[in-house]
Amino acid sequence: MTAEPTGTPTGTNRLRPRRSCLAVPGSSPRFLEKAQTLPADQVFLDLEDACAPLAKEDARHSIVKALNEGDWSGKTRVVRINDWTTHWTYRDVVTVVEGAGQNLDCLMLPKVQDAEQVVALDLLLTQIEKTMGLEVGRIGIEAQIENARGLVNVDAIAAASPRLETIIFGPADFMASINMKSLVVGEQPPGYGADAYHYILMRILMAARANDLQAIDGPYLQIRNVDGFREVAGRAAALGFDGKWVLHPGQIDAANEIYSPSQEDYDHAELILDAYAWFTSEEGGKKGSAMLGDEMIDEASRKMALVVAGKGRAAGL
Ligand code: GLV
Ligand code: MG
Repeated sequence: MTAEPTGTPTGTNRLRPRRSCLAVPGSSPRFLEKAQTLPADQVFLDLEDACAPLAKEDARHSIVKALNEGDWSGKTRVVRINDWTTHWTYRDVVTVVEGAGQNLDCLMLPKVQDAEQVVALDLLLTQIEKTMGLEVGRIGIEAQIENARGLVNVDAIAAASPRLETIIFGPADFMASINMKSLVVGEQPPGYGADAYHYILMRILMAARANDLQAIDGPYLQIRNVDGFREVAGRAAALGFDGKWVLHPGQIDAANEIYSPSQEDYDHAELILDAYAWFTSEEGGKKGSAMLGDEMIDEASRKMALVVAGKGRAAGL
């Protein structure tokens, strides 16, 4: 019998701002401190690849302390645990959630390969929440797609648990897993001549949107090349992605800007919503169609405007 996920739907949690998702090594008390002062929408305190094997045990405790004692106000608080093929996962979850479950918004599960791996995390979380008297289902899950098997199964993964809030593309591991001929993470491999990431990004975006989840793009490792970051971030944002990882304070402002609508687009979206509201009012409803200047407005334009206006309001425009 297949185990059923037991979390309860998180609804609006899936809409938390995640324009910039800052990676913070859990083994560095200095970075855990500094991250609290930076204007990233989300922080994820890392127990996985930024943490050496021998540092993981101490890092779990540093993270618990930082979550409980730090000031993370205004930020989505996430811990990235190790993937299920390691022997660290269960202790990551038990230590972090028992120690700081009430001060944690989501766990990030890396290298997800199938839906069962998400269900397993959901079940473990539920047991800990019940044992600790925490609200069952409040802690969300973010799933990283980082290899071919994960991408092939992404539709089932995205539907695996009501705790899921985002699907994240992990380009570094992904490039390694498919033998892509490039060593510069996030950059195009030489010799192909087109966008080598288009299929992967769209596949992830469709799975996310079909399940009302956010889609997040992973890291760009050339941390001093902000123009390069802007170009790569701009591509995913144009497709509809909600945010991107940032590895360095210098990338945060760029991500916040790129994943917010421009003032012009935001203003235009609000005008579309006003025009549509008038069209559906007692007075405007007698007209054949809604117009904004020369632009015809319909239900589909209203939906597009709602997305842009929602992001703009969240960004304080
Ligand atoms: C992130 O985890 C990546 O592998 O790109
Ligand atoms: Mg990775």
